[in-house]
Amino acid sequence: MRVAVIGTGYVGLVVGAGLADSGNDVVCADIDYDKIGRLDAGEIPIYEPGLAPLVERNLEDGRLRFSTDVAGAVRESDVIFIAVGTPPGEDGSADLQHVLDVAGIIGRNMNGEKVVITKSTVPVGTAARVRAVIEQNTSVPVHVCSNPEFLKEGAAVDDFMKPDRVVVGVDSAHARAVLEQLYAPFVRTGNPVIFMDIASAEITKYAANAMLAVRISFMNMIAGLCDRVGADVTLVRKGIGTDARIGPAFLFAGCGYGGSCFPKDVQALIRTLKQHGVDPGVLEAAERINGGQKQLLLERVHEHYGADLRGLTFGVWGLSFKPETDDMREAPSVVVINGLLAAGAAVQAHDPEALEAARRVFGDRIVYASTNYDAIEGADALIIVTEWKQYRTPDFARMRSRMRQAVILDGRNIFDPAVVARAGFEYRGVGRSSPARTERAGA
Ligand SMILES: NC(=O)c1ccc[n+]([C@@H]2O[C@H](COP(=O)([O-])OP(=O)(O)OC[C@H]3O[C@@H](n4cnc5c(N)ncnc54)[C@H](O)[C@@H]3O)[C@@H](O)[C@H]2O)c1
Repeated sequence: MRVAVIGTGYVGLVVGAGLADSGNDVVCADIDYDKIGRLDAGEIPIYEPGLAPLVERNLEDGRLRFSTDVAGAVRESDVIFIAVGTPPGEDGSADLQHVLDVAGIIGRNMNGEKVVITKSTVPVGTAARVRAVIEQNTSVPVHVCSNPEFLKEGAAVDDFMKPDRVVVGVDSAHARAVLEQLYAPFVRTGNPVIFMDIASAEITKYAANAMLAVRISFMNMIAGLCDRVGADVTLVRKGIGTDARIGPAFLFAGCGYGGSCFPKDVQALIRTLKQHGVDPGVLEAAERINGGQKQLLLERVHEHYGADLRGLTFGVWGLSFKPETDDMREAPSVVVINGLLAAGAAVQAHDPEALEAARRVFGDRIVYASTNYDAIEGADALIIVTEWKQYRTPDFARMRSRMRQAVILDGRNIFDPAVVARAGFEYRGVGRSSPARTERAGA
């Protein structure tokens, strides 16, 4: 099939490369000239495991191309994915400006019957608006459908190539047949392509992200209680995660969720619920708890060192909003580091992949360390914000010898409190009392 993917970000690039890999002729179009220039030169502008070889292979084989000519990409394709960004607007609702801009371009370039797929995360009713904009500009038949994307940054290629399920909202037999054909190579092991009406598909995406965000905030609420009474949230997690009705995923307490999806999608769903007169209380609570959780590490720093942090240096491990990505959108590290700097501290940070993205956020206000050990050189505390795998089993003796004060504030519970205590560190996780507190609590 001749496929255009409009918007070549985290989603569009993976979708485009994945569809090319199953034999389609794909053009990925974006208005970001710099990004397309880098892609044309064989450079992948984001860090995503497995993406570089996938793009390279399909470029070489001629099934994948990049272009800044969105109109041209529309004209030469039968199937068009809209994968542009939908950032939060001022009132929290999804800003559909880019999606509707693309719809206008599609409408003006309809040189034959086409299937248009909203892949971006968009509020219920958006596919209908996309169709209306296209139809204002053409009388050529168009099939608009919704195919929300569930890939996770850090595992995006795997998630797209081997999806748990594919959700498609359609209202025409032709669109259904095209989507069935497109996805057949990716669901050969029997994972379902779930067809439904368009509104239900649009809601499914928000419901999935909101549910996951609620689980995280729920566990952070329980972690708050564990901290106060000397209990251990990691044990509570095991205790409830083994209940088949609950399951173990997304129950990790920590210093808050971030990223380009959960925060904005929760906000957008709150807005949609309000517009339709439905009480969004559960989501408002999840959002409020998450905001507080992003402050938790700072609160702990101030508890320990007082309000004025001048003369103190903090080593920060992990800047991306989660491991295996360089994405820093809404990352808890931004809240933590800005708070430290505002109180006069010096910050030395390490991240395996996000240093370039971090430079765009912090400029020269912090020191970028090339190893995690360099980040704690002379530090008064180590603050762990992102649970990269390579941070999990460090040489504690080496760490101690480099740090000015042996203090670890672990925002992701990556260490065993007993092990770090034996290594001579003062340690605080999230929802895990320190060994001393546990003793006091008689555990
Ligand atoms: N990132 C994720 O993990 C993820 C997962 C599932 C769904 N989504 C959703 O997918 C959509 C895209 O997310 P992303 O993370 O890939 O965003 P992104 O910001 O990485 O990429 C969006 C791209 O769209 C381009 N763009 C904007 N306006 C354009 C236009 N008029 N014509 C052509 N290109 C245009 C931008 O230049 C940018 O390269 C969003 O709606 C997001 O909510 C994201």
